[in-house]
Amino acid sequence: MKKTISILLLFCLILSFNACGTEKQWTKEGYFSDESGTLVSITWMDYDGSTGWYVSFMAEDDAYGNFLAQQGNSLTGNIIPEYEEGSLIITVSEEGDGIKVDVEGGETYHLTPYEMPQATISITLNTRGIGQIAYADTEEGIDFDEGFYTNSVVNLAGPETRVFGARADEGWFFVKWTKDGEDYSNDPIITVELTEDADFTAVFESDDDDIDYLALVNKLNPLPEDWEENLRTVKITNSLGDTVEVEVRAYKAYQELRADLKENDGIYVELDSARRSVATQQSIMDSFIEKYGMDYALKTVAQPGYSEHHTGLALDLYFRLQNADGSFTDVYYNEDMVQYPEIWEKIHAKLADYGFILRYLEGREHITGYGYEPWHIRYVDDPAIATEIMADDITFEEYLQNYRAPAVEVDYGASSLYTRDDMDAAIIQIKCKFASFASELHSLTYAGDSANSRENLAWLNSINEGAGYVQVMEFLSSFRAGESEVLVHDKEYTDYQWWLARTEDGGWEVVTYGYGS
Ligand code: DAL
Ligand code: ZN
Repeated sequence: MKKTISILLLFCLILSFNACGTEKQWTKEGYFSDESGTLVSITWMDYDGSTGWYVSFMAEDDAYGNFLAQQGNSLTGNIIPEYEEGSLIITVSEEGDGIKVDVEGGETYHLTPYEMPQATISITLNTRGIGQIAYADTEEGIDFDEGFYTNSVVNLAGPETRVFGARADEGWFFVKWTKDGEDYSNDPIITVELTEDADFTAVFESDDDDIDYLALVNKLNPLPEDWEENLRTVKITNSLGDTVEVEVRAYKAYQELRADLKENDGIYVELDSARRSVATQQSIMDSFIEKYGMDYALKTVAQPGYSEHHTGLALDLYFRLQNADGSFTDVYYNEDMVQYPEIWEKIHAKLADYGFILRYLEGREHITGYGYEPWHIRYVDDPAIATEIMADDITFEEYLQNYRAPAVEVDYGASSLYTRDDMDAAIIQIKCKFASFASELHSLTYAGDSANSRENLAWLNSINEGAGYVQVMEFLSSFRAGESEVLVHDKEYTDYQWWLARTEDGGWEVVTYGYGS
């Protein structure tokens, strides 16, 4: 019965009207139904300068609608509209408080007044978008090939659960569903508990963009100046209620990756952050320094203007864990996310298929300038390029320079002051800083416990007044210089010093580096 009503209304919406000018004699306006689900609606319509009785007739899964002529106390005519083939002549006449429908050469239906449910759920496409929408009682029932609509109204008898589906046409992609103008879901198929009037809109976007998907933005390369001119983005809302802006093709690919992970791995990924303005990057930097301290902030957050996030092509993921009762727990703090290497492994395995790479690799901090970030992925558009980068386990920098940096040799020496973990924490800081040298780092050697002298501590504290450093560590490095204003190109530098100081919260900061201290 519900399906009948929906289709009936759909017809009211999309038929082109062809009313014959006439005076209103017939008075039975409204909906009529019988036990077997036959439905008739009769409406006095005034459309495009024409007026008349418009009758929708739905019986045994066939639905038609047309203007019928008044003939005495009845309405009669071909219920199949002119633009469709065929003829089905019906005559509608009064019968008690209901109506009778005689089909020429066929059945007679006896219908009583039907009270139309009040909630009106309309599902529409956005005006920009090209795609299809469908609805059904269950997810399995969603079928775009049969009965898809570009616009529809669903009337319901009361609170009901319905499934809506959206599918983009070629060259477009599904962005999100909105409900009454607010972001509602990023899933193309949604199950909705409908209790009151609502307007669901499927938003589609074109995947056409004209930017350089291989643009390099890192500690040495700021966002290209004309970037914004050609960039096209979409904005969506994540499970935490935050707005996230993403470049169009990156978002399309992300949607596909997300669907694949959900369907085949039971992993529910979300977008924490994608495109950021310079001002947003600054506020992230400030809040990270406050929350985690300078050392962590510097290896995790780019300087404003130098963040890959400015491009709209860098996506920070987080994920949701499903609880036994079906509800979800968001896992989105960095320190929590790193506790799930097995989940990241599954996510990373699928990145390249959708044109993404993992950007900040473990052990390659001296090239990327940042610590390992399992959540930060970068869209490069071409799955073949992404596959090459991921399969070779190289950084984006190395791919673009057609070069593979050798591993960095570390000599931890002997220390009665520091553990291996202490040194590794300091080494990451050196490597992250070193990435700004555009050089090839060969080795790092612990310079010995004597570096932690009172004089050196006072010296580093005098460089950064108020920092309150508590310990000192020194490393010596060797590297081959890249092109820079201060280093001799291709020269091998040895015993180049790195001076680090430990802050009160235990982290390490590179305070100064060079020769001759
Ligand atoms: N987390 C990366 C490095 C950024 O802030 O751009
Ligand atoms: Zn990121």
